[in-house]
Amino acid sequence: MIRRLNNLFVLDTADTTYAFRVLPTGQLEHLYYGKRIRIEEEADAMPLVEQHAFVSGNLNLYDKEHTEFSLEDMRLEMSSYGKGDIREPMVELIKSDGSMTCDFTFSDAKILEEKRPLATLPSAYAPEEIHASELIITLQDEALSMELCYSVFEETNVITRSAKLLNNGQDPVRLERLLSMQFDLDPANYQVTCFTGAWAREMQKKTVPVEAGKLLLSSMTGSSSSRCNPFFMVSKAETTEENGDCYGCNLIYSGNHYESVEVSSYGKVRVSSGINPTQFSFLIGAGESFETPEAVLTFSAEGFGGMSRNMHAFVRKCIVRGRWKEKERPVLINSWEAAYFDINESKLLKLAKAAKEVGVELFVMDDGWFGKRDNDTSSLGDWTVNEKKLPGGLSGLADKINGLGLDFGIWVEPEMVNADSDLYRTHPEWTIDIPGRDHSEGRNQRILDFCNPKVVSYMTDVMRKVFKSANIAYVKWDMNRTFTDVYSKYLPADRQGEVLHRYIMGVYEMMGTLTTEFPEILFEGCAAGGNRFDLGILCYFPQIWASDDTDAIYRAKAQTNYSYGYPMSTLSAHVSNCPNHQTLRVTPLATRFAVAAFGICGYECNLAEMKGADLSEIKKQINLYKKYRKTLQFGTFYRSACAEDIEGIYQWTSVSEDKKEAVGMFLHTLVQPNTRLHMYRPRGLDPTKKYHFTNREMEYDIREFGDLINTAAPIHVKPNSLMHNAIANFVKMPGETEDIYAYGDALMSGIHLKEAFGATGYDERTRHFPDFAARLLFLSIHD
Ligand code: DGJ
Repeated sequence: MIRRLNNLFVLDTADTTYAFRVLPTGQLEHLYYGKRIRIEEEADAMPLVEQHAFVSGNLNLYDKEHTEFSLEDMRLEMSSYGKGDIREPMVELIKSDGSMTCDFTFSDAKILEEKRPLATLPSAYAPEEIHASELIITLQDEALSMELCYSVFEETNVITRSAKLLNNGQDPVRLERLLSMQFDLDPANYQVTCFTGAWAREMQKKTVPVEAGKLLLSSMTGSSSSRCNPFFMVSKAETTEENGDCYGCNLIYSGNHYESVEVSSYGKVRVSSGINPTQFSFLIGAGESFETPEAVLTFSAEGFGGMSRNMHAFVRKCIVRGRWKEKERPVLINSWEAAYFDINESKLLKLAKAAKEVGVELFVMDDGWFGKRDNDTSSLGDWTVNEKKLPGGLSGLADKINGLGLDFGIWVEPEMVNADSDLYRTHPEWTIDIPGRDHSEGRNQRILDFCNPKVVSYMTDVMRKVFKSANIAYVKWDMNRTFTDVYSKYLPADRQGEVLHRYIMGVYEMMGTLTTEFPEILFEGCAAGGNRFDLGILCYFPQIWASDDTDAIYRAKAQTNYSYGYPMSTLSAHVSNCPNHQTLRVTPLATRFAVAAFGICGYECNLAEMKGADLSEIKKQINLYKKYRKTLQFGTFYRSACAEDIEGIYQWTSVSEDKKEAVGMFLHTLVQPNTRLHMYRPRGLDPTKKYHFTNREMEYDIREFGDLINTAAPIHVKPNSLMHNAIANFVKMPGETEDIYAYGDALMSGIHLKEAFGATGYDERTRHFPDFAARLLFLSIHD
């Protein structure tokens, strides 16, 4: 709910309050963002107002009439440089007289009982079950006006913010930065958690105390990037998974972004985020305007976990849209790690048949099906099927795959072109590069100039034809480059600072058109793995390939870290072969499944060449996944005991909406010798209900125990001998059985799992738990 109480604005969600007021000088003073508090009339906000009586030292006065404060030491909602404040500005622009000082002051406020979409960018929306309203504050600086838009999504505890600059004057202004949001917190021991990384190493969580100076996070790759995800957290030093103050911030944007957390000379903490001002400069002509992406803010006093659950609900309900929003996603097989570029119809059909046998629902043909694409040096841009590989074309293959009882999906990379392609040879003016200069290339490809509307409409049409050419149920939309030599041959010289933003707007336009025209297709975002895992993409595609790294141990960490800001229904995760193609690590197949099962689970391995035992394990996995899929994909997700708490242990729980069912995972990386007693701590159960706690029952190959077989066998067995192998074919070692009936509150206090193997023998009461082991655990209400 949004209320105006004279000069005061109060934005309430179910559990949070955000408040600010108009200063006597016209700027907006930020008063409070935190746990919900009672403010019924303007005077109730008095404790939140700083009591300034005079300006100290060499602070500047805004004007002669207001001698009691300086903007440098006020908590502000929107700041600029030149009238006293010397901290991170939200706006920077150059006026036609060359001056760069801005002075935006309050002129108007409007409250709407709805949430409007942004005009030029994807934005959050309110489905029926969410109460949303919007506050538009208009600030004025001569002929320029600035709209600060605040949208409140009550049930999800989220407030979004965006800003719009309008040039109502006669002369153009050059906008050098316009961030989406900014607010100033009172002094406290804050820390910032960011998620940095690289290709195949996305989402490495780092927490940095902010005691002085400024912490800057940003992307310069032209995309939201694996180098630094736009999601970040600001929390108190004492905040834990379950307790303490935590702010979560994200941006609905897929281009270069920028986040700053600055501690002022007076200890106040300014949090800002928006489009990266580096390599950005926008000319705003008379009558024109510029709108920023929406920033997403949430707060929880229930620690990182509470903050994540707010974000998850918001992303699931108010970002993801379309037919697939709440629809269970199919189990797929993807051809990439099975065959890379070396595909042909018979190979693909073999893979599809094997996939069908184990219960896969969707067959995805990855890169390599078009033009002369045998490696990454050619053919991007030429989206015609390679008939040598697929003699019946896309529809021929799709029909055969459908005939096997599988849906059919394809890979595309519409934003790119290889220099070795007919498209580039015909339209060299359609790429982003600087005429007459050498181009610094990545993956042998160039980026199409989506600033140019002709390129957008051409490629939209090409994709439209591809999607119509066969019975296509799924599309993996890839984007494998970061930007260099940023230059659009379509834009004039004085608008080259607009390229990166206009590019992403062009891409959004194409995504918007195609997802609207093909509502049944399940689209999956991808950018060399997770180089564009962000809320902008999620406004079009309900799921994103989180990383090219399919190693289960890396994935356990990365998926834990993604889960701080993103729900599991957005995270695509595959079981692949071992040794793993990215790390050469060998992990148990059951562990690879346990980790992938907590996302949108798929397979990415050559099922046609796998051992029978592995195939029957995979068949069981897929059966199990289908049984619990709704809870795993759309349940409420909890982390317990993260790597920081207990070295190398990951615990996840996903609880169904009605709390009748929960699925857990307990994984450890390396065995700590003689630490046999592990506890699993489920969360989110109904404390008053009795649950049945069980585990995924396993059986083991005796060869996993090596020559320990001789401690039990009546005759001596030489390891790896014929006899050893023969025994292994007939004798399986039973895994442990968990079987407890107890109330939710007792279970949530921690469940002692069966004792793990600790060099003292083994029977069915012992948990086989070597390096990289994981166990799936189940809880269901027992009536
Ligand atoms: C990068 C993606 O992340 C991979 O999954 C695969 O689709 C390749 N591109 C294909 O070129």
